[in-house]
Amino acid sequence: MSGLQFQRHRRLRQTASMRALVRETHLHTEDFIYPIFVVEGENKRNAVASMPGVDQISLDLLNADMQEVVGLGIRSVIVFGVPAEKDEVGSSAYCEHGIVQRAIGQIKENFPELVVIADTCLCQYTSHGHCGVIRDGVIENDESLELLAKTAVSQAKAGADIIAPSNMMDGFVAAIRHALDENGFAHVPVMSYAVKYSSAHYGPFRDAAHSSPKFGDRKAYQMDPANRLEALREAESDVREGADFLMVKPALSYLDIIRDVKNNFNLPVVAYNVSGEYSMVKAAAQNGWINEKEIVLEQLTSMKRAGADLILTYFAKDAARWLREGS
Ligand code: PBG
Ligand code: ZN
Repeated sequence: MSGLQFQRHRRLRQTASMRALVRETHLHTEDFIYPIFVVEGENKRNAVASMPGVDQISLDLLNADMQEVVGLGIRSVIVFGVPAEKDEVGSSAYCEHGIVQRAIGQIKENFPELVVIADTCLCQYTSHGHCGVIRDGVIENDESLELLAKTAVSQAKAGADIIAPSNMMDGFVAAIRHALDENGFAHVPVMSYAVKYSSAHYGPFRDAAHSSPKFGDRKAYQMDPANRLEALREAESDVREGADFLMVKPALSYLDIIRDVKNNFNLPVVAYNVSGEYSMVKAAAQNGWINEKEIVLEQLTSMKRAGADLILTYFAKDAARWLREGS
């Protein structure tokens, strides 16, 4: 074998300590944003069948859950509302006493240090289940902006620390930034779902949030999964309109897009590890086909390696526990 020229990469892989020294990517509990679903009523903890471990909870049970989240070292939650009433124009999204507004107020009162993010969309609140206003079967982009801006302001009034618009109307960041500024919330950042694909991976979320469109689909506003350059156009316009964070959603099938967004823009990048990604892992784990902890930590690490600064994930509490145990 003498005379062979090659590199001995394995020198750096010999022991756990050596591997730790040269590890390039680290997961931290501070990276995680934990999603919660809040529902009207009392003593409600409705398990979401397609998302084992995820519940819709009523506000009287919320403090205990937030105590757990804070105890695990998680710094941030995003609130999704499941309202009792829906109508054509999604009134319960921007009502002062809406479920999300009350949840935000309650969390900020009891856990002021927790960063509370409000998801800003209309689909859970509209009778037709679309993310904007419908007229003659068509989404009215500009009319929808007014309601989205109103929703964002009501969430900021309730105490939201970050507004996260997920609706994919054109101009939503501009409309929301303007409305926040006009109403005394110039200090409240916008975490834009800048790059959101029309993905089959949202199915379980729509069970959890009761937000399936009653007709058609979201392809006329969410992006075509085949497109990469379009993601850069979406992110660029949101940056120009004043976004403070850029989100890419879903995460695992779009790691290339996370990297593109990270390389092209100088803003914190958020990966949304969506419901379908969660449910697939849970189902396989329940069957004993995979090692859940190892799979999840590997997947979350891949999102950070791709360039995500933050990860919005239903696994946040589990991952926080696993990181605490040491892996
Ligand atoms: C809708 C919204 C969706 C998700 C969050 N907000 C998807 C959709 O129905 O289009 C999906 C989140 C997930 O799947 O975890 N504005
Ligand atoms: Zn929506």
